Amino acid sequence: MKQNGVFITFEGMDGSGKTTQMHRLAARLRAMGRTVLETAEPGGTPIGQKIRRILLDSANQELSPSAELLLYFASRAQNVDEWIRPALARGEIVLADRFTDSSRVYQGRGRGLGEEAVMALDRIACRGLQPRLTILVEIDAETSLARARARNAAEPHCETRMDDQSLEFHHAVYQAYRDLARSEPERFRVVDGRAPIEAIEERVWEAVSPHV
Ligand code: TMP
Repeated sequence: MKQNGVFITFEGMDGSGKTTQMHRLAARLRAMGRTVLETAEPGGTPIGQKIRRILLDSANQELSPSAELLLYFASRAQNVDEWIRPALARGEIVLADRFTDSSRVYQGRGRGLGEEAVMALDRIACRGLQPRLTILVEIDAETSLARARARNAAEPHCETRMDDQSLEFHHAVYQAYRDLARSEPERFRVVDGRAPIEAIEERVWEAVSPHV
């Protein structure tokens, strides 16, 4: 299928503010008259939402690392086929809150399943679809955990299975994001997640505007 749209992803640790930034970017693009599809992983499509509930439910402590990896990619495959590819084919801008890079850092590195296993599934689920640009909103592991716990305390919910992982796990994820961004500097733009929201929004716009 021919693709004329632009696919941009947001990545970062929990609590980095990437979701807020994605919504702000979407609003800005819509105000310019562009058609924007916002999606998220795990989730996005109705089927993806159901898969998300399994993945993030803190009651599911027995979920094995490989089952976890496959479920993230099940949600992604549905998102790619049902929403992302059709929107790109219509020439729209697609913004995704997380994509395969999240699986590379959380499952490939955090869980130790390895880059090869993750990219094998990416070939099946995404069939060569790659973001043109990836915004990495960077915060360190301690800030991430503190923000995630503050959020969970303010609005108690059961989507905490990933936040419940050890500090060591979150350190591995942080380092993996840095390594990825360094290995693909043309695709990644790293912005400081501790800066004021408006300042981050401007950095994001500087990165995105040449592509839209
Ligand atoms: P969210 O809070 O940004 O919606 O992300 C949900 C959690 O799922 C977050 O802790 C990161 C994790 N995650 C993975 O471990 N692997 C993945 O492939 C994706 C998309 C998310």
